[in-house]
Amino acid sequence: MSAPTPKKMDVTIHVNGEARTASIEPRTLLVHFLRDELELTGTHVGCDTSQCGACTVHLDGNAVKSCTVFAVQAQGRQVTTIEGIGKVGDLHAIQTGFWEEHGLQCGFCTPGMIMSSHELLKHTPNPTEHEIRHALEGNFCRCTGYHNIVRAVQHAANAMSGTQAPAAADD
Ligand code: FES
Ligand code: FES
Repeated sequence: MSAPTPKKMDVTIHVNGEARTASIEPRTLLVHFLRDELELTGTHVGCDTSQCGACTVHLDGNAVKSCTVFAVQAQGRQVTTIEGIGKVGDLHAIQTGFWEEHGLQCGFCTPGMIMSSHELLKHTPNPTEHEIRHALEGNFCRCTGYHNIVRAVQHAANAMSGTQAPAAADD
């Protein structure tokens, strides 16, 4: 006897300022809703177990790992993905920071790094190196190392607050 087909339900989430509706299984994770239903593939899946941070998005302005949230929990709420932060020709200051400081190699971790950095800079506009490293503890990078990532966030913080170039960060 085959298993019963899971019942679907409609969910509407405001993604990058636009109401998006889809019929999904209740167990659908927010990251899969974004990638599979909306084709917003800038949000990555690294571990699927809330460790790597590659899936980080903003939910009502707060950074969350979207593999830890059911899409139905975001019903009626605001989600921002990396596609909503900036785009080619109109990069966000944090994206520019990663570009200028060579804060990426393969780029797999970068969207999550940027979304987490965005929340840090919202609450702490001029973070210390320690505060940056602490804020990014839940985001893993497997190829760049964290030295240039810290510099990228410092670059962005300085650009956003109009201060001088950052001091070198230790690896
Ligand atoms: S895919 Fe969500 S934390 Fe790794
Ligand atoms: S740039 Fe490749 S995992 Fe971070």
